[in-house]
Amino acid sequence: MTTPKRYLITSALPYANGLKHIGHLAGAYIPADIYVRYLRAQKRDVVYVCGSDEHGTAIPIQAMKEGTTAQAIIDKYHPIIEQNFKDLGISFDIYHRTSSPLHHETAQEFFTVLNNNGDLEIKETEQYFDEATNTFLADRFIKGTCPNCGYDSAYGDQCERCGKSLSPDELINPVSTLSGNKPIKRSTKHWYLPLNKHEDFLREWILKEHKDDWRSTVVGQCKSWIDGGLQPRAVTRDLDWGIQVPVKGADGKVLYVWFDAPIGYISATKQWAVNNDKDWKPYWNDKETKLVHFIGKDNIVFHCIIFPVMLKLHGNVLPTNVPANEFMNLEGDKMSTSRGWSIEMDEYIDDWIKKENGGESMADVLRYYLTQIAPETKDSEFTWKGFQDANNSELVSIFGNFVNRTFVLMHKLCNGKVPVFHNELIDSNDKELIESIKHSSLSVEHLLEEYKFRDALFEVIDLARKGNQYMQKKEPWILAKALAENPDNQKLIDNCLHICLQLTANLTILINPFLPFTAKKLLRLMKVTDKILDWENAGKLKLLSVGYNLRAPELLFRKIEDEEIIFQLEKLKNKSQMQKAESTTPNAESPQPSALSLKPEIVFDDFAKIDLRVGTIVAAEKVEKADKLLKLSVDLGFETRTIVSGIALHFKPEDIVGKQVTVVVNLAPRKMRSIESNGMILMAEDKSGKLHFVNPDTKIDEGSSVS
Ligand code: 2FM
Ligand code: ZN
Repeated sequence: MTTPKRYLITSALPYANGLKHIGHLAGAYIPADIYVRYLRAQKRDVVYVCGSDEHGTAIPIQAMKEGTTAQAIIDKYHPIIEQNFKDLGISFDIYHRTSSPLHHETAQEFFTVLNNNGDLEIKETEQYFDEATNTFLADRFIKGTCPNCGYDSAYGDQCERCGKSLSPDELINPVSTLSGNKPIKRSTKHWYLPLNKHEDFLREWILKEHKDDWRSTVVGQCKSWIDGGLQPRAVTRDLDWGIQVPVKGADGKVLYVWFDAPIGYISATKQWAVNNDKDWKPYWNDKETKLVHFIGKDNIVFHCIIFPVMLKLHGNVLPTNVPANEFMNLEGDKMSTSRGWSIEMDEYIDDWIKKENGGESMADVLRYYLTQIAPETKDSEFTWKGFQDANNSELVSIFGNFVNRTFVLMHKLCNGKVPVFHNELIDSNDKELIESIKHSSLSVEHLLEEYKFRDALFEVIDLARKGNQYMQKKEPWILAKALAENPDNQKLIDNCLHICLQLTANLTILINPFLPFTAKKLLRLMKVTDKILDWENAGKLKLLSVGYNLRAPELLFRKIEDEEIIFQLEKLKNKSQMQKAESTTPNAESPQPSALSLKPEIVFDDFAKIDLRVGTIVAAEKVEKADKLLKLSVDLGFETRTIVSGIALHFKPEDIVGKQVTVVVNLAPRKMRSIESNGMILMAEDKSGKLHFVNPDTKIDEGSSVS
């Protein structure tokens, strides 16, 4: 394998619309950071970029929830997320923002090049438009009934109950979430990236060239996208939050967030170059750059299909690999911040890092466990018990224990100095361990080059385990007891501790990409600079000089007690229950009714045309094969009418018999599921979407008019 001239490593830009959880951390950030730290130790030319994704509907939706502006949302979450990453040791060279002017310019230039070269197509289509707010509706701003499962609050792009991907046209009874009104169709013009024209390139590049060196999960997902038939993809939107489409007459249109976000990797590199007086161009234009995108599996299509087509058309380098991870579940369920079933980075930092002195080592514990259970080939599961076991049985009992024993014994039996190695006394145990040190270094290197972070970490811990076994065989503490009778035992003790200390130095190099805070602590204990971390030192046996004085032992990791784990489990349960309660309480989630949602003005005569009467429901039954409909008999005093009403998801038939209601009695009859409905019952909808009858405050005669 030839070494690439330079590396450009990216981690998915997180939306700055809220806190990010440890599932995100495990997917796109920790593996990338391990890789980058390894490359830096190899002295390769590497730039690691990331930043906030600040466009798309996710931001204004969060602004609506928090009752503030989109700008306020990104300004709130960008610095929090950036600091969280720092606290967990993620070592970006730059953490940029897609709201920056440099990014806006870069994305507009990119679009212009493609547009001027004729690589984009323009199409006029009909899209949902909200007349009350005078806006086209992004998919997320339309809700309706899911055609798949009947859920009545499915979004225009996806049903959150059954998970089906939808298009707004598939929704039954679509409504605008901005005004609550039924949207109309209006024609609009958009720019499309004709992915269908690039199918041959994608087949050749992914399914042939990279079929063996990319993860099979990634190639598999790409194959099903390609085989499913690629369609032209709209790269512009009618929205007032985003990057203006740089074309005359395209006012009110912005670049699609998935068009601008990956270009964020380029603008971040540009900003890094400005900050460090470097040239950004070779990183994106020179074929000798190795570009690697670290992402979660939900981003595969964007990084393996759409962005590469954009890069090819724009004349940039293509990614060499996209080692996407699968998902990490939590205690038996999908991780989700909105459902409260998650551990936010911010929360972990508060609970485990900030609370204790030297809490950075708890950042490493999380890094360790998330790497050990990394969902590299299939979904995995975070459990607090697993976290405790990984810490107590591996970090404390194997790695920490080996280092601690080495330091304690070296101070006790070798005057706190690196002892000399007596070559003439080398035995098979020494030779075996020396071989293991060399072999493990090569093996870790090989695994890291192949993005097999779990296996690489296992190899490092296994080497520490071998160190413990070696010490157990050598038993220097027993040799020390017989020193008076056998003064030569000191030489055997020296040999054992010499090797254990050289192994400690090697473990420091090998663990550094994974657990950087621990590596730093080890450097302090050994009183050496970070020069020793150069990967060329891995596998070497003379890293610590004979006679060199080392510091007194300090524990690298602390035990995690059962109570701490019980506390976290309780907290998780409480959090999800609170979230559930909040989302079913009328409030926050749904937009507040506002002046915007008012219908256009009418004159009194318009209103006077409506005949409203009080009636009493005297019978109710479900309509067959229609989840939402009830067939009602309503006594109006002068007659009893059949009315079909879409309230079946809100009321049981038996609970509403006897209820008084307000009926529009002069509405033209309408057939629903072959039943003629003669009127309409008035309902009020609260903020949580629950329906209530509109009725007189005391029982009155049927047929009384309402005005
Ligand atoms: O899925 C997400 O969270 C996106 N914000 C990731 C964007 S990655 C890149 F393209 F910028
Ligand atoms: Zn559904």
